[in-house]
Amino acid sequence: MIDKITTTKLKEFKQKSQKISVLTGYDYETALILNEAGIDVVLIGDSVGMVKLGYETTLPVTIDDMIRYCKAVKRGNSRALLVADMPFLSYENEIKDAVLNAGRLIKEGEVEAVKIEGGAEMVKTIKKIIEAKIPVMGHIGLTPQAVHQMGGYKVQGKDKDSAKKLVDSAKMLEESGVFALVLECIPADLARTITSNISIPTIGIGAGPHCDGQVLVLDDMLGLCSRVKPKFVKQYVNIRAKILDAVKQYCSEVKEGRFPSDEHTYK
Ligand code: KIV
Repeated sequence: MIDKITTTKLKEFKQKSQKISVLTGYDYETALILNEAGIDVVLIGDSVGMVKLGYETTLPVTIDDMIRYCKAVKRGNSRALLVADMPFLSYENEIKDAVLNAGRLIKEGEVEAVKIEGGAEMVKTIKKIIEAKIPVMGHIGLTPQAVHQMGGYKVQGKDKDSAKKLVDSAKMLEESGVFALVLECIPADLARTITSNISIPTIGIGAGPHCDGQVLVLDDMLGLCSRVKPKFVKQYVNIRAKILDAVKQYCSEVKEGRFPSDEHTYK
């Protein structure tokens, strides 16, 4: 029997002070690896737009893009809770559209929950999505979909007022019914305050060690990304260098007639 992770289990992890492991995932083969490694949550993040589709920001990603990646991850996953990002402009305008788009990620993308960026201003929408029986994960601090409004990818909550706003938003999101909350790029002390003030798990990215769980973009931690690496990313392996070596070796073997050898040839 697989010990399937659910939103309820994540809340139990917090109560038992067990940390929660989260990584992004976008495709079938990687999902199989994450599953075998025993990751708790796979986030099909709209970061897919930057790391897989080569966009400058996450803003161009569409619901249809998300659904395709969600389905691929679903095929390789059996244990982790699957959470999908609601992409930019799929939930901010009409609440009815937000519920329908969240529903598409569940029905067509086959994930189990959605993630929404934003604080107090999103509470009404989040409540409606939850009323439609769709679990929602919140996301505050640096919210990449607001990159132009924030003037870049900067640490948030550094002064007293903005820190208080984040503490208040976290409380409001908890009251609105979100099952977990991503805290991105905020000072560690602020993340600790938020984490101890709410009963739902906090998942940190660039938010220090006191959160209930941690999330990283998979391609960043694998060293598969050519873009500048933020300070909070720990690179566990340099896959990019390994792929580059392998492809260079293949090119020279083909050019020099050393591939295919007898071993890879039908007689
Ligand atoms: O899109 C994403 O990958 C995310 C994480 C960085 C939290 O939202």
